[in-house]
Amino acid sequence: MSPDPQVFDHFNSEARTYAKRSGGWLWGPLRRHEGRAIMRALDPQPGERILDAGCGAGHYMALIQERGAEVCGVDGAEVMVSAARKSGFDVDYHDLESAPPPGGPYDKILCAGALEFCRDPGRVVNHLAEGLRPGGRLVVFVPRASFLGRLYRWGHQKHGLRIHLFRERDLWGWQGPTVQVQQIQSVAFSWVIRIVTPKP
Ligand SMILES: C[S@@+](CC[C@H](N)C(=O)[O-])C[C@H]1O[C@@H](n2cnc3c(N)ncnc32)[C@H](O)[C@@H]1O
Repeated sequence: MSPDPQVFDHFNSEARTYAKRSGGWLWGPLRRHEGRAIMRALDPQPGERILDAGCGAGHYMALIQERGAEVCGVDGAEVMVSAARKSGFDVDYHDLESAPPPGGPYDKILCAGALEFCRDPGRVVNHLAEGLRPGGRLVVFVPRASFLGRLYRWGHQKHGLRIHLFRERDLWGWQGPTVQVQQIQSVAFSWVIRIVTPKP
């Protein structure tokens, strides 16, 4: 499936100020709250290899690194890749819709705030699960189909982007031979989903 150029154009234009705005007065406290829930679900450990898929400017890569794990990232927006590299992160260009992520197998993969921009989120979840070692963990963070979720969608519609919002039953629908949905938690206007791949 080919990438949606509008998504990458949008994030390329956002990239230079993205990291700075993550710490802003409104977004900062929300990001910290979400970050705590995401880190609890991912539980990065020293010695683990973790991929941040759709890493943007590297906000979550920094949190993973702080916890002693080895982290790298992929993103489909070239300017985001450059921004994350400037912060010292190991990041490659990769479109999540096209194939499993390069460089695997990983112990864990995080995909935060990227799936809603993909044309076929279920397919991307399967690609990401393929990038894990058997028994590995995937943590996904996506917006809920809720009032605040619709406000978030409206904010992106103004930039010409159509994004997915997710109901709980959509998430259970990802279940398959390589995707075992283990836990779904509602956090602010989003879901944190913990997925594992079967052990051999
Ligand atoms: C809302 S930002 C979130 C970035 C980062 N995860 C964070 O929380 O700070 C979404 C990111 O996902 C990336 N993205 C969206 N669709 C993608 C795709 N199909 N392949 C790779 N990256 C994608 C965008 O380029 C953008 O950097």
